[in-house]
Amino acid sequence: GGVVTIDPGYKNTGSCQSAITFLNGEEGILRYRGYSIEELAEKADFLEVAYLLIFGELPTAEQLEKFHADIKAEAHVDEDVKKILDGFPKSAHPMGVLSSLTSALIAFNPSSVNVDSEEDMYNAIVKVLGKFPVLTAWAHRKRMGLPLDYGDDNLGYVENFMKMMFNRPNKEYKANPIVTNALDKLLILHADHEQNCSTSTVRIVGSSHAGLYVSLSAGISALWGPLHGGANQAVLEMLEAIKLDGGDTKKYMGKAKDKADPFRLMGFGHRVYKNFDPRAKIIKVAADEVLADLGVNDPILDIAKGLEQEALSDSYFVDRKLYPNVDFYSGIIYRAMGIPVEMFTPMFALGRLPGWIAQWREMRLRKEPIGRPRQIYTGENLRSFKPVNER
Ligand code: CMC
Repeated sequence: GGVVTIDPGYKNTGSCQSAITFLNGEEGILRYRGYSIEELAEKADFLEVAYLLIFGELPTAEQLEKFHADIKAEAHVDEDVKKILDGFPKSAHPMGVLSSLTSALIAFNPSSVNVDSEEDMYNAIVKVLGKFPVLTAWAHRKRMGLPLDYGDDNLGYVENFMKMMFNRPNKEYKANPIVTNALDKLLILHADHEQNCSTSTVRIVGSSHAGLYVSLSAGISALWGPLHGGANQAVLEMLEAIKLDGGDTKKYMGKAKDKADPFRLMGFGHRVYKNFDPRAKIIKVAADEVLADLGVNDPILDIAKGLEQEALSDSYFVDRKLYPNVDFYSGIIYRAMGIPVEMFTPMFALGRLPGWIAQWREMRLRKEPIGRPRQIYTGENLRSFKPVNER
């Protein structure tokens, strides 16, 4: 081995070569397979973007139809998985439930561990793309005490997910196109973000050839943290707390700047974006549109805008290049759609799923070696063992 250099948080360490997502943090550019995030959010649908990320090209109509049909054929979940879901307390956080159920999928689909050919990989991929939305919707219904919904094969991928989330017993389900379109856009914006914490986790777990589902389960766990995907829940809880506190944004700005106070302005700052987060720009506009379309007047949106305004003119935030990130406004839209706050991070996971899959597949196709960082040892030198009565 050569000289080991330490880079805590891998701030300046590349872990792989990748042809999936291009990101320029100085200029706020994000592209999937060469297509700008702005154009994809406006013109594409989520399933097309999933295909693009995973396979590298936008699908033809035929390819997309087959992809969707293969996913739909897998959009059922073994009845015994339901028993595992039943075993969780209602109060369980859905991210923990989803991480567990995704990892449990391997026990029900043992053949999916072998991904030695592209065909094996494809089969494992459509299986999880089919089952994960069902599990996500079920995690929600379980919390709400609602009977589980199996979806409708005639609906689009995102529309079907909405039905599985919101369908009520004895009521005919009617999709709200505004909500479906907004969700589609949000999922596209979350679909990949190169070597972030959860994606790096998926790649490193997968690098031991542990299989797709457990790699994804590890990614879901990584995403759960409030510094990563968990920020969307944390943002809304913060905005609620500020509202309860009489809307005193200045007080919270002060807390965020106080180095003795662990409080951070949730939804602000990013490891890579040091100018603006292009996803946040799109989401801010979408939040205005969705709330107007749905006729929702949410005072939380005003608090968010107020905070952003203050932060943008505050030297603490300006000097550190802290701008609103993807999580700052997304929760406001989710809330307007009737999605409870604990489900915000699962929504992020649903969006990120194609990205995790694409990165895992790329890693396996490129036959990358097992991930195994080095360290510099700082512990004791050699010493001799003392029996317990001499310590
Ligand atoms: N509020 C107050 N101060 C902050 C914040 C914040 N949100 N973010 C960073 N800082 C300060 C930090 O204290 C440090 O100050 P100093 O140089 O005086 O010590 C400086 O800015 C640099 O921060 P860092 O922690 O070294 O930066 P990082 O790249 O390690 O962390 C981050 C990036 C996103 C974890 C961080 O900005 C953060 O904790 N933000 C809040 C949580 C959040 O919104 N996360 C979502 C990230 S976007 C998408 C996703 O992954 O979900």
